[in-house]
Amino acid sequence: MVVHSLAQSRRIQTAGTVTLTVRAKEVVADGVVSLVLARPDDGRLPDWTPGSHIDLVLPDGTSRQYSLCGDRWDAHTYRIAVLREPAGRGGSAYVHDRLAPGDLVGVGGPRNHFTLAPAERYVFIAGGIGITPLLPMVRQAAQTDIDWRLLYGGRTRATMAFLDELSAAYGDRVDIVPQDERGLLDLDAWLNRHFPGTKVYCCGPAPLLAAVARSCGDWPAHDLRTERFTAADSAPVRQTPFEVELRRSRVTVTVSADTSVLQAVRQAGADVLSSCEQGTCGTCLTPVLDGTPDHRDSVLGDHERAAGDCMLPCVSRSCGDRLVLDL
Ligand code: FES
Repeated sequence: MVVHSLAQSRRIQTAGTVTLTVRAKEVVADGVVSLVLARPDDGRLPDWTPGSHIDLVLPDGTSRQYSLCGDRWDAHTYRIAVLREPAGRGGSAYVHDRLAPGDLVGVGGPRNHFTLAPAERYVFIAGGIGITPLLPMVRQAAQTDIDWRLLYGGRTRATMAFLDELSAAYGDRVDIVPQDERGLLDLDAWLNRHFPGTKVYCCGPAPLLAAVARSCGDWPAHDLRTERFTAADSAPVRQTPFEVELRRSRVTVTVSADTSVLQAVRQAGADVLSSCEQGTCGTCLTPVLDGTPDHRDSVLGDHERAAGDCMLPCVSRSCGDRLVLDL
């Protein structure tokens, strides 16, 4: 029997989360485990759509975001897959080394910032653990009889999760490309011609996303959707302080180089919800009324960035002297 301390239960019951039980834990590739989560009473879970993620609040109080990669029509369980990240902040190590079936976790969401838009044809491109949000998309495309193909790359076959599941269900619609056997993904061969009605969905490490964007060249911006693993790691556009006006609060604050916009607006008394504070969950999304955000999140799509009418203030900053937020 698993005994959960009161302190542990409190740590996973943060605002907006429900408590779920780890029903199963399975190694699905070298360095990757999958978790099946369910309500302790086996009750129904909130619905979700392909591309959704959940916030997983671990018993030690840390919170991480993971894509749902199970069957959206199974209303009673969620499945996620977690890559061990030796350079990470400890969340994946906790899942791999300490979390066990029967443990309780907090779960926020699901939320979806990577929605599957209607198309006549899909090209799915996954790098490594980036396969997770694409699995439900592939399933949906197959169930609705829409033309699709999946290009799935990884370092070696052993590190690539869900290969058996994909091969058994979809056969040669999936092109599996372990780098040690076949080299890098031949993106130009897949993307050098734009067929109207085609949408490309890509998830993986930043170099893959950049390579896919290059290969798509002048495709219409809405036809390429990507999901980044981590927030931008390049230097901010602006290294000097800037002003943020909170229009509804009638307050202006100065954001110094070592303070986030989120911290500054909270210090000024504005109430902004947040979760990951790393630009990966979308919780802190805030409307921008004026100014140009320096987008440093992993949530907004290219066209949302270009529109410039919203930002994630936990990581994003300002390109200019002043931003005006609808707060
Ligand atoms: Fe998660 Fe800002 S709190 S994106």
